[in-house]
Order: sequence, then C-alpha cells, then structure tokens
Amino acid sequence: MSDPSSIPASVAAEDDASLSTAQLMHDYVLGNYGRFPIAFERGEGAWLWAEDGRRYLDFSSGVAVCALGHSPRVMVDALATQGAKLIHCSNLYWVREQARLARFVVETMMERPGKVFFCNSGAEANDGLIKLARKRAWEKYGAGTNKNVVITCKQSFHGRTLGGIAATGQEKVKIGFDPLLPGFLHVPFNDPQTLREAVNETTAAILFEPVQGEGGINTATPEFFAEAAKLRDEFDLLLMFDEVQCGAGRTGDWCGWRTVLEGSGVAVEPDAVSWAKGFAGGFPMGSFWVADEHAAALGPGTHGSTFGGTPLACAVALAVLGEIEKAGVLANVKRQESRIRDAVAKWDFAILRELRGVGLMLGFVLDTEAMGSVAGFAESGKTPSIFVVNAAREAGLLTVPAGETVVRWLPPLNVTDAEVDEALALFHSVLSTLSGR
Ligand SMILES: Cc1ncc(COP(=O)(O)O)c(C=O)c1O
Repeated sequence: MSDPSSIPASVAAEDDASLSTAQLMHDYVLGNYGRFPIAFERGEGAWLWAEDGRRYLDFSSGVAVCALGHSPRVMVDALATQGAKLIHCSNLYWVREQARLARFVVETMMERPGKVFFCNSGAEANDGLIKLARKRAWEKYGAGTNKNVVITCKQSFHGRTLGGIAATGQEKVKIGFDPLLPGFLHVPFNDPQTLREAVNETTAAILFEPVQGEGGINTATPEFFAEAAKLRDEFDLLLMFDEVQCGAGRTGDWCGWRTVLEGSGVAVEPDAVSWAKGFAGGFPMGSFWVADEHAAALGPGTHGSTFGGTPLACAVALAVLGEIEKAGVLANVKRQESRIRDAVAKWDFAILRELRGVGLMLGFVLDTEAMGSVAGFAESGKTPSIFVVNAAREAGLLTVPAGETVVRWLPPLNVTDAEVDEALALFHSVLSTLSGR
C-alpha cells in the first residue's frame, strides 16, 4: 500500500470479504507481535470459534484476562446497562462506580485499609507503583533524597512502558530502547541473601510478582517474602507486589501472595499491589491499592489518567469481581487445580519434566533434551514451548508459551469439570503423539 491517494475515503467503514484477515494484518497492523496464524470471531465461556468455523477450547483466556470466559452474561449485562446510562465521566468529578469498586478492593479483596487508583493496563498500574515509591520517599526524606531505587527480580515482567521495561528483569525487553529510566536493580528471584546485599539507604521499594508469569511460572518462596518484609522494616522501604497476572482470583484467593504463603507459617502483607488482566474480565482496566499510611504521597495533581476508572470500566469490573465472589469461583479454582494435578501426576512423558504453579496459573515445564528426539522439532527452529503450543492448537486446545520451555494453562476461573477433562485428554494425546506413541 504505497500510494495513500489510492485509498477510497469510505474504505474504513467496509468489511471487504475478499481481503483475508492475514492480508489485512500484514498490510496495515504494526508487526510488533509474533502472532499465531489464526483469527477468532466468536467466543462463549471457555470456547472460541475461528473464522473457518473450527471450535477451540481456550485455556489461554487472553493470557489470564477472561476470568469468567468469553462474553459472560454478567459482563454483557453490565456493559449494556451501564453503557446506556453513562460511559465516560472525567476524573474532574466524583464517580460513584469508581468509589464502589475501590470499596470492594479494600474490603473484600485486600481486607485492609487503603486507597485505590484506576488506570487502563498492567504496565500503567506498575508505573503508578514506581511513582508512589519515589514520591513517598521524596515527601519523607526531602527533595534532595537519593532514596529512589526500585529493586525487582530477574525473569520478572512488569510491562512495556518505559517504566515497565526498566523494571522488568529480562534483557530482551530493553534492547534498543536506551537510555532506560534509571533507578532499577534486578536481583535473582528467591535468593534472600542477594536481596539483602542489594538493599541499602537508596532503596525506595522492592517490587516482585508473587508468581512470575511471563518468566515461566515461578512461585516466590516464603523465605523470600519474609526477607523482603524484614528489609522493608529495617530500611523503611515499600514492599510492593505485581499481581497483574496472578491476582484477582487466579490463584484461588483474591490475593496471590496469601495463597502462596498459606500453611507456610509466614505471613507478609504488602504496602502496595497492582492488578490488571483478569481484574475486569477482559474490559481494559488496571489498578493499584496502597496502604492508608502511604496514600498521601500521591495527592492532588501528582498522578492521573483520562480513561482511568470510567463508570463503564468500573461497573464491568464490579460485575466480574462480584460474580467471582458470589458464584464460588475461588473455590472452583482450587478444586480444578487439584483435579489437574491429580491427573497429570499419572502421566509419564520424558518431554514433560514438571507441572508447577498455583491455582489456575499452571506451567508444564518441558525437558529440552527429550524434546530433541521429537519428530520435526529440530527442523522447526521453534522453542520447545512454541512447538508444543502449536501442536496443542492444532489439536484444538489453546495454551500460552512462557519463556522457552514452559507451556502455560490459564483457563477461565469458572472452567467446568467437563472442560478440564477435555483439556487433559487433548493435551495428553498431544504429548503422546510428540513422544512417538
Ligand atoms: C506480571 C505482569 N505485570 C505487568 C504486565 C503488563 O500488563 P499490560 O500488558 O496490561 O500492560 C503483565 C503482562 O503480561 C504481567 O504479566
């Protein structure tokens, strides 16, 4: 498409069936994603229908987004009802739906006094946490303070904004974007000793994911939580959790860190938490909570977002979170996790090393060496995770790669027994075929 004058003025309004989605994507959409060659046109619960009419069992949920599956009744109703009433209202004014949602976060999810900010994505929520940590230190220690460093973990993922890539502990997201935002230090995940060595008077905050998602489904250990909390008290820094992927019910509790620490004898509470992804079930929304004692750091004029916390977004989030609360969805997460674990424990494949994770954020870890003997793998030039995700998709099951060797299952939190059984059967058959059986 080289001559813009050749584009008819009305083209945007038409859906020209003679042009394939693949062609349109190639011609007009920025090529910043590596995409699987498929387009979906309809979804219902845990199922998606592709343009060619084929049905897929979706255990990716838009990468942990569609908490109640595709187009759940409660979301459709909230969109229609609130959409007809008031869609957008500036943050120049009070917004009742925002206040109600903030109350739900404070009283039902966190069960701790605090204040909530709403935005539009996970990266934005984390940018807010970074600003909070710096501003809180500035307020407390004065304008000349050098207490502005945020410590994060290796293999972490915190988003694609300039703040997000600076905070992310993976080189690949930073390449080519220098100069990066300064003031970040990455320490090995689950290494309390190195964390202690990294902290000093310049540390404003420690930020980590209780369960790393993009980094390969790695769960923080109680020892790591405990050391981070001790350092918080010793060095007067903020302990902040990125629950963008593992929060809002995905682990079987409102708070991922509480699920992880359950029964460990360690109890740690953060000073601030970020959410996005499943928070509004697929309506774009991010948010963060900050404990009351630090909330004043972000006073009037310090932070904001035009679209953050619109009546529509908040009404949809309230409907989704309310359904999770009322419909026994958190208990379902735990029950389906044990059903999956029980089934997979009986599997015996050399290419499958381990099943790890928490709740319905599960990672099948592939054995790189054993993958070497899978027919077609070496010639494919793909990573083990992408190769297996492709094979599962061809069999009708959608999953997500995490790093080079982990295949993630992120089904809707209200997934049924029958859907879990079908996914287990499909994935077992895929691994059997790849194993030459
Ligand atoms: C833990 C975590 N934090 C932040 C983000 C960024 O969220 P978003 O893509 O909504 O900006 C992600 C996205 O995958 C994530 O998994």
